[in-house]
Amino acid sequence: MTAIGREFLEKTKYKYAAVSDQELGLPQPPLQLTHPEDSDPVELPAPKQVEVKELPLREAIDNRKSVRDYTGESLTLGELSFLLWCTQGVKEVTQRPVTIRTVPSAGARHAFETYLLVNNVLGLEPGLYRYLALEHKLLPVNLVSGVSEQIAAAAGGQDIVADSAVTFIWSAVAYRMTWRYGERGYRYLFLDAGHVCQNLYLAVQAVGCGACAIGFFDDDALNALLTLDGVEQFVVYLAAVGKTKK
Ligand SMILES: Cc1cc2nc3c(=O)[nH]c(=O)nc-3n(C[C@H](O)[C@H](O)[C@H](O)COP(=O)(O)O)c2cc1C
Repeated sequence: MTAIGREFLEKTKYKYAAVSDQELGLPQPPLQLTHPEDSDPVELPAPKQVEVKELPLREAIDNRKSVRDYTGESLTLGELSFLLWCTQGVKEVTQRPVTIRTVPSAGARHAFETYLLVNNVLGLEPGLYRYLALEHKLLPVNLVSGVSEQIAAAAGGQDIVADSAVTFIWSAVAYRMTWRYGERGYRYLFLDAGHVCQNLYLAVQAVGCGACAIGFFDDDALNALLTLDGVEQFVVYLAAVGKTKK
């Protein structure tokens, strides 16, 4: 098994890099997955107008920890809007065009599509949603009851998923990254995910919540639940979020 990891590290060295699709002149893939024109995404409150606790950076970093005990209280839509902004919020779409967001990304490729398992957010029907970062809206994906239990099961039955008010699920659209970086781009997908989750760990403290990263999940089961093919697009990382005791 270790051989695969070592081979990955070796073969993704720049010295093996092939001419990229970008260098070949192929068009850049879209900044975001499309959605049906007749879909009706949920509006989110403007993140900068959401009142959150003022939190000194030093304190936020000092108090960062994985939290697995939640009170069961709901998040407001404003609090969720703030957390989405902190993790994937688009600050600017440049001329090229690329998105500049609240988190860094190799080459500003920003290959993630964020899904949310909503269990307990005021004003949102429980179920699975996709965050439309460009519009700062939420697209309902699967609101059939039982999806929460299925996703929790795919995350190894970890209680934090079922207990969370909301679980963030970050999937990568590989070509958005590999278009520029080829095979090395896979490294950057996983590096990018760390920045996103760290912002969540810090930001949740400003809305009376705690978060816990989740890297333990059944790839095939989770990709299937999100209707991702597991090759072009696949789940990279999750994080559970819930209210904590005051
Ligand atoms: C990549 C990664 C994957 C993780 N996966 C899980 C997980 O599946 N379940 C879980 O309960 N905690 C998970 N954690 C949380 C770690 O267990 C936790 O960060 C570690 O024990 C240190 O505790 P702290 O975050 O409170 O400092 C993960 C953390 C990272 C960074």
